[in-house]
Amino acid sequence: MNPCILNILCLMVCIFSQVRGRVHYGYGRGKEHWGYHGEGNYDPEDWSEEYKSCGGKMQSPINIDTCDTIWDHFDHFSFHHYKQTPVHIENNGHTLKLEVDYRNHPRIKGGGLEGIYDFANLHFHWGSNSSLGSEHSIDGKFYPMEAHLVHYKSEYKDVDTAVLHPDGLAVLSVLFEVTPKDNKFLAPILKSLNKVEKAQTDEDITSSVPLRALLPRNHNKYFRYSGSLTTPTCNEAVIWTVFTTPVHISEEQLEMFRRLRTLNDSIPLTDNFRPLQEVNSRRIYRVERELELKNAIGAKIGYGGQGVDH
Ligand SMILES: *[C@@H]1O[C@H](CO)[C@@H](O)[C@H](O)[C@H]1NC(C)=O
Ligand SMILES: *[C@@H]1O[C@H](CO)[C@@H](O)[C@H](O)[C@H]1NC(C)=O
Repeated sequence: MNPCILNILCLMVCIFSQVRGRVHYGYGRGKEHWGYHGEGNYDPEDWSEEYKSCGGKMQSPINIDTCDTIWDHFDHFSFHHYKQTPVHIENNGHTLKLEVDYRNHPRIKGGGLEGIYDFANLHFHWGSNSSLGSEHSIDGKFYPMEAHLVHYKSEYKDVDTAVLHPDGLAVLSVLFEVTPKDNKFLAPILKSLNKVEKAQTDEDITSSVPLRALLPRNHNKYFRYSGSLTTPTCNEAVIWTVFTTPVHISEEQLEMFRRLRTLNDSIPLTDNFRPLQEVNSRRIYRVERELELKNAIGAKIGYGGQGVDH
């Protein structure tokens, strides 16, 4: 192919990826200042020295003490364009991040949120073994992995603007529980993991999975509280939804995440969770509506059995 055409194509790809509005939260910009286990200059207990908000009173994650929750009723969540499949995967040295084609923006509303929230990215936190890995815990119990589906309020221009407002972001948190069987919905994503084993590598992916297949079957059972980003710059701008029902994953699948590396190649990208933060005077709300089949995620297209219900 003519090298000029290649250049033009490359330029178009570059412009496109900027238009898509990558979410950075202060990472991926030049020198890495923070990490979890010595791979940056600051470990979690010292983040606040460099990032003031990390020392705030409304930080995340937290332990959810179910006895201390307040029952509440919100309208049903509704998910738009959640059939979209991620088209881009990245190991940024702190997490595995997936993005979609933003021309058809997935968005959520309802669930007690005011207004519409546009999808920004999906990323994961996981452990070096399955006794830990999630950021949030419920009654002291940690899970081997937690996925965050990050959305920003559509009235704000982008994530960078949204994080300056207390209602700027809505993050949906999905907890994972180990089962002997693979989670077949994760398989297409995992197939691309070996291409992003090194930090700061990324890939466009064609074989992927609809976002909604990653949600628990009952998305009307959850905890709600106001908190922060769990990574610097720790802005207190997040309306958290922590789904009560976990989804499943096998040990073999978790092992694939554990093979990823941080920016320091000798330090594996595992245990990339922030330690628990104080709840302080915050209230944690609890919503539980039984599954109504017509509203079940994937009911129409048969994503059954995804949630491991108790
Ligand atoms: C799991 O990993 C943590 C952190 O590396 C470690 O402290 C703990 O002992 C491990 N637990 C098991 C059961 O291997
Ligand atoms: C990478 O991590 C190893 C093991 O902790 C450490 O000895 C080494 O100094 C680190 N390298 C850099 C460039 O920070």
